Amino acid sequence: MKGRPLVPFAITAIIGILLMISLSFVGLDQRAEMNADETEEVPEEHEDPIAAGEEIAGKSCIGCHGGDLGGASGPALTALEGKYDHDEIVGIIQNGQGAMPATGLNDVDADAVAQYLLSISE
Ligand code: HEC
Repeated sequence: MKGRPLVPFAITAIIGILLMISLSFVGLDQRAEMNADETEEVPEEHEDPIAAGEEIAGKSCIGCHGGDLGGASGPALTALEGKYDHDEIVGIIQNGQGAMPATGLNDVDADAVAQYLLSISE
């Protein structure tokens, strides 16, 4: 083993490093695509906001506000009319209030839930 026994190892190492760099670019590309998909998913508006709001509330709110929104660890949401207007409800949904955390709903979904809650208000 005279000469340059390290050359094969060096070549392997360089190929490995090049592979790592190119794979991370592939990863960045895929991530950019995923982000693009996510922004596309936000709809302009719901065709039937009240029905959409009911569905979203069924996923995002009942964990704390009860299965029929009649109250659990969070207060009942069935009599908001007169207490909060539409924009205030959107604000609570998006920013949280007191012990309630912000829910991370986008503007369109928060608007739909607010419309739904006012529609079921007694
Ligand atoms: C992690 C539990 C939790 C989740 C999830 C949650 N809430 Fe709440 N919410 C609370 C709590 C607790 C309060 C009482 C906050 C306070 O005043 O301290 C509250 C208060 C509210 C109020 C004010 C009620 C009143 O009478 O003052 C509204 C409106 C409301 N939530 C709407 C929603 C909506 C709509 C969703 C779903 C998009 C939601 N919340 C999801 C826990 C939650």
